[in-house]
Amino acid sequence: MNLKKWRLNDVRYQEFKEMTLSRSWVKDTAAEGHFIFLPKNLTDNLTDVKPWNIMCEITLFWKDLPSMKEKIERLKKEKHAVILAHYYAPEEVQQVADFVGDSYALAKAAKETSAEVLVFCGVEFMGESAKLLNPQKTVLMPSYTADCPMAHMVQEEKIAELRKQYPDLAVVCYINSTARLKALSDVCVTSSNAVKIVKRMESQNIFFIPDRNLGAFVKAQIPEKNIILNDGCCPIHAAITEQQVREAKQAHPNAIVLAHPECEPNVLALADRIGSTSEILAWAEGEGEEFLIVTEEGVRFPLQNKNPKKQFYFPKPYPVCPGMKENTMQRLCAALESEKVGVEIAEDLRKRALLPLERMLELAK
Ligand code: 13P
Ligand code: SF4
Repeated sequence: MNLKKWRLNDVRYQEFKEMTLSRSWVKDTAAEGHFIFLPKNLTDNLTDVKPWNIMCEITLFWKDLPSMKEKIERLKKEKHAVILAHYYAPEEVQQVADFVGDSYALAKAAKETSAEVLVFCGVEFMGESAKLLNPQKTVLMPSYTADCPMAHMVQEEKIAELRKQYPDLAVVCYINSTARLKALSDVCVTSSNAVKIVKRMESQNIFFIPDRNLGAFVKAQIPEKNIILNDGCCPIHAAITEQQVREAKQAHPNAIVLAHPECEPNVLALADRIGSTSEILAWAEGEGEEFLIVTEEGVRFPLQNKNPKKQFYFPKPYPVCPGMKENTMQRLCAALESEKVGVEIAEDLRKRALLPLERMLELAK
């Protein structure tokens, strides 16, 4: 193979960082037969770039991708397994998945599949939700450390306090939360059904957990209810700034701006439409040739795949969720092979956490 070494001083640091975070650049470089050489001291110095090591790993294994894909396909058949992946999972993982979707679609698919083994390429709360809905099935996750920080951002005492203060209180829990928080809630929602479900709740007083931004988005559309917000957020979406979006808009003035409701209100104010990852995908298939996508950059793959002639831009630096990117092909392969990284939930907790999840599936119909 024609090996080419890239050294840090070949390109400026910022450019190199951005190019490497752009998966298509990594893929093209590998396809051309170039191998990217990253000395350990380089990766050690880049402590401010969390997904950096993951991207290095992807770069270095790219040449083995075809054989790994074959192995995954073979193991899937042998084990009667299905792979479920979120749109934020790495592109090559989305390619081998049997089902790719947003949180709501994945929860539904996990409930409806007849497969005995589910491999969930997402973050912990997604694997947990699949297990809550399928206690008799084996739910594997490629990485046990793939977590969503927002899933933990609620003080349990606050729930008890508000329940005392408002006897009719309904605790509405974004599915991005731990099983323990779900168990303390009345209903779960996802970003694609939150408004619909809160509107259907009988309670006048709602405590929306854990995401303050999705909560504020829902509150603005249902002013007749008293929606109390919690101070949690997605660190990835909340890090996207108004300035970054303004700069991207300036660079692409004809682009339609589609944003995820986990972004801060000043960022959402710049969007033409606000919705879940599935809604963003659906809108991009409609009118328009250029889109500025204000969410995690994993959606670039399904967007570009479904709309090869359209242009998709993202704010810079590209929003990348490290938890989702922990679902590498190697780990997926190892999870299928060993069946070791299984999700387990104590039966008492499972029963309590399942109720709000089932209520969501019912109310979202
Ligand atoms: P969706 O509900 O759009 O799948 O979003 C999940 C998520 O984690 C967003 O950060
Ligand atoms: Fe959690 Fe944000 Fe990652 Fe979604 S993008 S899984 S909300 S950290």
